[in-house]
Amino acid sequence: MSHKKVAILISGGGSNMVALVDSMTGDHPARPCLVLSNDATAGGLQRAAERGIATAVVDHRPFKGDRAAFEEELVKPILDAGADIVCLAGFMRVLTDGFVSRFTGRMLNIHPSLLPLYKGLHTHARALEAGDAEHGCTVHEVTARLDDGPILGQARVPVLPGDTPDTLAARVLEQEHRLYPAVLRRFAAGDRSPVLLG
Ligand code: GAR
Repeated sequence: MSHKKVAILISGGGSNMVALVDSMTGDHPARPCLVLSNDATAGGLQRAAERGIATAVVDHRPFKGDRAAFEEELVKPILDAGADIVCLAGFMRVLTDGFVSRFTGRMLNIHPSLLPLYKGLHTHARALEAGDAEHGCTVHEVTARLDDGPILGQARVPVLPGDTPDTLAARVLEQEHRLYPAVLRRFAAGDRSPVLLG
C-alpha cells in the first residue's frame, strides 16, 4: 500500500501534531513526511525530531507583513517533501488565497471552537462570556476564508461551573487529540463524512 504523505504545520507546543504523528502507524493510510514551523523556538519541532520526522522552519518575521513572499518560502519544503495532505495544527499565521488554493481539498485545520461559532482568537474566553453550556473543537477543510470551509469533524465538551479559559481550553485540547487523528484517518482514506465526538 502506498501511504499518503502528510505535512504538519505548527507554531507552538505541537500537542496536536504529536497526536497526529503517533496515530499514523500500522494500517493507517498516511504517514508524516514533514513538520514545519514559522517559529524556530516552537517546542513541537523537537518533539517531531525525537520521533524521527523531518523538520523545517520558515520564520515569518523577515517578511514583515508580506504574506505572499513568506508563503513562497513556506511552500517549498512542503513541495520538496512531496506532501499529499497538509494539516495545520496550531499554526498561527493567516494564509492567503494564493497559498490555500495550491492545496484545495488537501489542507485541514483544527480550531478550538464549535464552528461556525468563534472564528479567530480567544475562543475559550468568548464561549465563557457568552454563557455557553457547551464548547468544543472543529476540524475543517481550509478555504480562503479564515476558520471556514467544510466541517470534517467536531467534538463537544460541557462548560462546567467555575471554568476559566484555561480549564476549558485543557478540556477541549484533550478532545482535539482524539478528534484530529480520527478525522485524518478517515480523510486520508478518501472519506469526508464528518466525525462527531462527545
Ligand atoms: C490548539 O488548541 C489548536 O486548536 C489551536 O492552537 C492550539 C495549538 O496547540 N489553534 C488555533 O487557535 C488556530 N487558530 P498545540 O500546539 O499543542 O497543538
